Amino acid sequence: MVEENLSLPESFSVSEIQGQVTALGPWFHNLNLGGVQTAPDHFLGDYPSLKWKSFGHAIPADLTGLTVLDIGCNGGFYSIEMKRRGAARVLGIDHDEDYLAQARYATKVLGMDIDFQKLSVYEVGQLRERFDLVLYMGVFYHLRHPLLALDLLRQHVAKDWFVFQSMMRGSRTKPQIEDDYPFWETKMFDHPGYPKMHFIEKNYSGDCTNWWVPNRACAEAVLRSAGFRIIDAPEHEVLICRCDPDAELHPIPAGLT
Ligand SMILES: C[S@@+](CC[C@H](N)C(=O)[O-])C[C@H]1O[C@@H](n2cnc3c(N)ncnc32)[C@H](O)[C@@H]1O
Repeated sequence: MVEENLSLPESFSVSEIQGQVTALGPWFHNLNLGGVQTAPDHFLGDYPSLKWKSFGHAIPADLTGLTVLDIGCNGGFYSIEMKRRGAARVLGIDHDEDYLAQARYATKVLGMDIDFQKLSVYEVGQLRERFDLVLYMGVFYHLRHPLLALDLLRQHVAKDWFVFQSMMRGSRTKPQIEDDYPFWETKMFDHPGYPKMHFIEKNYSGDCTNWWVPNRACAEAVLRSAGFRIIDAPEHEVLICRCDPDAELHPIPAGLT
């Protein structure tokens, strides 16, 4: 779909952009590149613009001077929004070269200085850098080892803000959970709101990379357990966190750091 041709820093014609967008597709992020929409038929609607509108107010409007790490950056939507908020440095990482090529092309068309690197979430220790704001959107449930990844992020790259989003399924209720129970007490495990992750052996929504889908209480519990303090929940899938300086961090097994 072609809309108005927005003014762009370099001269890219609409037909040139349309050609590159098609060549680099399919896109998961629906970006507006000079009037060309990259994923106009997204099954979630105008995604992730719609998501961003639901939680953008919950993180600082002015990121001037701050550094941002966007994990699983995909086509670059959130990296671009962070740069628009004035971040001094934005690094987007993804393990998929095709998505990184999209992100690089998008920022070239938009004339933005954003760094994109091929890196797995399990390799963040190699960055040897901490970031003021870490975005961790839509990656948790795609991992076979989601708790390892959370520990790595908290202990290697997170400095302050941690913005988390996961697909969640099951109950959204949050029962009171005690710190401990006697061995023979088991009733609480049957409560739908008890922290649970659903393991998907084969596919969910036609996607074999959907592995672990938490309910709401579980998402909150794993974040706290990794060393984050949840400060806001602007919508049902997004949790805004800060690093908890008093948290006891769990040692990461040697060789996995
Ligand atoms: C559902 S998309 C979410 C994209 C974007 N963060 C968002 O919220 O719109 C998941 C992204 O995570 C990336 N991803 C999945 N596993 C990864 C891993 N182990 N390391 C880095 N990126 C990963 C995928 O390539 C994909 O771009």
